[in-house]
Amino acid sequence: ADPDPLQDFCVADLKAPASVNGFPCKPEAEVTSDDFFFDGLSKEGNTTNIFGWSVTAANVLAFPGLNSLGISMNRVDFAAGGLNPPHSHPRATETGVVIEGKLLVGFVTTSNVFHSKVLTAGQMFVVPRGLVHFQLNVGEGKALLFTAFNSHLPGSAVLPTTLFASSPSIPDDVLTKAFRVGNDVIDNIKSKFSS
Ligand code: GLV
Ligand code: MN
Repeated sequence: ADPDPLQDFCVADLKAPASVNGFPCKPEAEVTSDDFFFDGLSKEGNTTNIFGWSVTAANVLAFPGLNSLGISMNRVDFAAGGLNPPHSHPRATETGVVIEGKLLVGFVTTSNVFHSKVLTAGQMFVVPRGLVHFQLNVGEGKALLFTAFNSHLPGSAVLPTTLFASSPSIPDDVLTKAFRVGNDVIDNIKSKFSS
């Protein structure tokens, strides 16, 4: 979904002000082979958290060599029972391949149709750009997923935290009307995200 590059590469200069659509290129004389390799997805993430999951991003911020190339990846680790909570990527379509374990993968269309399937190692999915999706570990042990995006910075709007843990928070009046429940329910949900 990102614009096409106008040069072979443009290794991001992350220290330059982000005043353009993407990052300015670091001078070509300073580019080395290391700029095109990234080790950040080799380690298991820490899944000791409320959702039992961990997303390690290999986007332009972590891997500046991706800048302007319209591509990036994530590593997603799941503890037993872990959930990658419903979220959407405003700037990218996502595809993924399960490496280990058993995941219920699903997304909802803008016509409100839910598509889902249980996937095991080697099996793939696609989530069209911007649609709300999740993965739930339905296997016995851990699970591991690698995902890829057609943006160097797909962005992620995570519904539970967007709605119930924004800063400052969305007024209860909005959420009670949106979810047709009382303040007690909204306050209870909000309290689950305050640490
Ligand atoms: C999975 O949905 C991911 O965004 O990596
Ligand atoms: Mn996703």
